[in-house]
Amino acid sequence: MKLHYNVASPFVRKVMAVAIETGQEDRLEPVNRMMTPVRPDADLALDNPLGKIPCLVTDEGVALFDSRVICEYLDSLHDGPKMFPPAGSARWTALRRQAQGDGIMDAGVLTRYETFLRPEERRWPEWITNQKQKFRRALDALEGEAAGFGDAVDIGTITIGCALGYLDFRYQDEHWRANRPRLAAWGERFAQRPSMARTAPAEIW
Ligand code: BEZ
Repeated sequence: MKLHYNVASPFVRKVMAVAIETGQEDRLEPVNRMMTPVRPDADLALDNPLGKIPCLVTDEGVALFDSRVICEYLDSLHDGPKMFPPAGSARWTALRRQAQGDGIMDAGVLTRYETFLRPEERRWPEWITNQKQKFRRALDALEGEAAGFGDAVDIGTITIGCALGYLDFRYQDEHWRANRPRLAAWGERFAQRPSMARTAPAEIW
């Protein structure tokens, strides 16, 4: 299966981590895409009209996006422990944690575009501040529940692990671990998993 990807995207990392956790990494053929919101990639747009990564093209030729859809699709293809709990409160908890992690990544990536891509004279400080407030509040909420994460490995904890990794990658000056010791301790442990260690983000520009 073709995967439009790059090594900086936390949403791509999520897909790769699920592929590794479910023993399917070898099924993916990654195709590197270096597009940005102001430099689209025409080949990617042929598969994903939104022009965004990750985008998976299945063996049947069906293009799937976004990361949530791709991760759930990959989870449907294997017989091991499921990353998406099938029903009940475990499912809603995992999906809510996924949304929380995705939200942190959204705010982080949008702020990265604003502060890195947008010409300096056109930047909007209030917008940046409010995006950062989103991920700070989400981190505070996760600190409150991190003690209950236990050893869970599912779409919720994987997404949160990717979100924390993106903050380490792009927002070191945030010092997100300060005042969030439980989340920090969980994050250190989770980062040791092969699915996390082997997918750490890297600079592309
Ligand atoms: C980044 O460089 O931070 C980045 C690159 C691609 C997608 C998302 C983030």
